[in-house]
Amino acid sequence: MKRGDAALFDRIGGDRLRAVIVEFYEHVFADVMIGFLFAGKDKARLIEKEWELAARMLGADLPYTGRPMKEVHARHPILGGHFDRRLQILKNVMATHAIDPEVQAVWIDHTQAMRAQITADQGSECDHDAAASRAHAPGDSTAPLPLRRR
Ligand code: HEM
Repeated sequence: MKRGDAALFDRIGGDRLRAVIVEFYEHVFADVMIGFLFAGKDKARLIEKEWELAARMLGADLPYTGRPMKEVHARHPILGGHFDRRLQILKNVMATHAIDPEVQAVWIDHTQAMRAQITADQGSECDHDAAASRAHAPGDSTAPLPLRRR
């Protein structure tokens, strides 16, 4: 995993980093789109492990004691849109806390770089060209309607 500059961790500080992550998981657990995936999960553990991961990403010299990302997420039906939603919540919380722009950028890049370990699904963007070039099968709701005969 690419490690940041320790100066970034010092810039935000461990306590502020924890405050962001605590609020982040409050929103995640309550979220209408992704909250259901976290039902019954141990929020305190998630906060602890996420803090370790984020601290390391920002250059802190401490271990990550959680389970491997791929293994822990593989058992959950996480779609590309869920991934994007989680990232949006993170962006919102970082903005609310007025986190240093460089720390924000590194955290967002780091999250994006882990996408393939979390979900095999694509992003949630609409690919209009691909949709337009798809052959219309009979009965397909996007196929032209048959002409009415009199
Ligand atoms: C790069 C993005 C992500 C990171 C860095 C991340 C980080 C983590 C960490 C550190 C844990 C705790 C591991 C442990 O207990 O040892 C965890 C667990 C979990 N994550 Fe993520 N996560 C990411 C994306 C997602 C997404 C997109 C979802 C769903 C919307 C999700 C849902 C979960 C769930 C449900 C658990 C609990 C797993 C369990 O105990 O069965 N994660 N994640």
